[in-house]
Amino acid sequence: MSSAEAPRIRVLAVAGARPNFMKIAPLLRELRTRPRFAVALVHTGQHYDAAMSESFFRELGIPEPDLNLGVGSGPHGAQTAQVLEKMEAVLAERRPDVVLVVGDVNSTLAAALAAVKLGIPVGHVEAGLRSFDRSMPEEINRLLTDAISEWLFVTEPAGVRNLEREGSPAGKIHFVGNVMIDTLRAHLERARALDTLERLGLEPGAYAVLTLHRPSNVDDPAGLKRIFTVLEEIHARLPVVFPVHPRTRAAIARGLQGELPRLHLLDPLGYLDFLRLMADAKLVLTDSGGIQEETTVLGVPCLTLRENTERPVTVTQGTNTIVGTDPATIRAEVQKILEGGPRSGRIPERWDGRAAQRIVDVLEEAFAARPEVQR
Ligand code: UD1
Repeated sequence: MSSAEAPRIRVLAVAGARPNFMKIAPLLRELRTRPRFAVALVHTGQHYDAAMSESFFRELGIPEPDLNLGVGSGPHGAQTAQVLEKMEAVLAERRPDVVLVVGDVNSTLAAALAAVKLGIPVGHVEAGLRSFDRSMPEEINRLLTDAISEWLFVTEPAGVRNLEREGSPAGKIHFVGNVMIDTLRAHLERARALDTLERLGLEPGAYAVLTLHRPSNVDDPAGLKRIFTVLEEIHARLPVVFPVHPRTRAAIARGLQGELPRLHLLDPLGYLDFLRLMADAKLVLTDSGGIQEETTVLGVPCLTLRENTERPVTVTQGTNTIVGTDPATIRAEVQKILEGGPRSGRIPERWDGRAAQRIVDVLEEAFAARPEVQR
């Protein structure tokens, strides 16, 4: 049978929260170029503000989701349960051949669980990352999603080792590279052409970028205040530009009685503006996972305001330094960067813009060996 006549492999891709969108975009694009695949996209609705969701769809050229489950915000159990319940109904009706989930948010785990319970195999993109900190909700999501997935698509060698140590069969583990970097490479030139710095009154190389949204950093008012105090000190020397995540805005309103830090505050930015901002920053301070990877590829020094990272290659090969939240350490590490110029690093293996292609190759091959796929 020629590939044109072969039954199509029906993929249902799932995305729910901001960091999922730049990961799903290159996968959807690649899948749509291959005649063997028929693709549908489900948005769980975990993130719903235009600035957290719709703007990413527009800028990254992600097609409208076929379905939006509209789950919204809520405590972990409730949010996860809602995705699970709604996803189960969707999957029972559509019966795709494979469900593709990305990252480590609540939507990732819930969608994977709904699928495997119906006997539908799951591909997990960004598998194997471990912070070894089980107080982090994402760590639980990673462990559980990996434990039930059929295809484990890994971004860096540590991920392969973690999965092997946990007993994942070698045949399930695929070191494919980083889809988030596929997206960065596809859009960097466009981002560099934007007037973001002019609009914000910034000079290239003369500002820092801050992002902060981890519950461990923002949900405790005393800890948040302590971080803001040292950052305000830094801001007096080098403008600190801070697009504020909705969780953090809520934490400031609740825990700090609305007392805003004296930094260059912004609403959440779109993908391209934020990429432009990072690309020309003197340094980036963050508790995000993905930003550690993006700064590594951009060659911009990154100070991670956490005690650990699930992305160790950004430290061993990239520009990332784990600094925690102790003010003296943050101060000293910023000083080093200001004195020493950019920390050089190299780009990790297979972060070359072709991860989505490798992932779809793996799926295509797997299904070639399963002639029973009939729709
Ligand atoms: C989620 C992910 C986290 C990821 C982050 C990126 C989990 C467990 N966490 O965290 O891994 O790094 O997304 O942004 O899945 N809110 C809005 N508008 C929105 C979305 C959220 O106002 O569009 C506010 C709500 O007050 C909500 C809070 O942000 O309660 C937290 O949202 P939620 O999706 O639960 O977690 P994040 O902190 O965004």
